[in-house]
Amino acid sequence: MTFSPELEAKIERMFSQYPPDRRRSAVIPMLMYAQDEIGSVTRELVEEVARRTGITPLAVDEVVTYYSMLHRMPLGKSHVQICTNISCMLNGGTELWEQATRRLGIGHKEVSADGKISLEEVECMGACSWAPAIQVNYDFYHQVTPQKLDEMLTQLGAAR
Ligand code: FES
Repeated sequence: MTFSPELEAKIERMFSQYPPDRRRSAVIPMLMYAQDEIGSVTRELVEEVARRTGITPLAVDEVVTYYSMLHRMPLGKSHVQICTNISCMLNGGTELWEQATRRLGIGHKEVSADGKISLEEVECMGACSWAPAIQVNYDFYHQVTPQKLDEMLTQLGAAR
């Protein structure tokens, strides 16, 4: 499997930070960077990461299964994660989640028909003091109001 020259350089930098017998330490960042590049964690990617880190494909699969930020199916261009855990729930997170599902017509871990937006209901993101919290790809948004969410979805290309 070939990656872009940029990703190959990142992987090389990661490997240079670990002793050769500890390449397995790069499994999670390698999966995340590769997922960003190819859109999801494919079978081919699992086998490639296993080959490069010297662990079994099964061990890589166990990592993929455990961490919710790793996805086997392609996400939307913008992946919107809405927290409905306790602090966010008490501050309107559940209503934001329902608002987003209504507006987009999709549910948990689903992608809009045009591929622009995917949705995920998530557990605490560590931003409880600024609840309700939303994450879009790698950007965080705090104290999100229904109006702010509506504007955000419009900016991401959601249909009215
Ligand atoms: S409960 Fe939502 S960020 Fe902690």
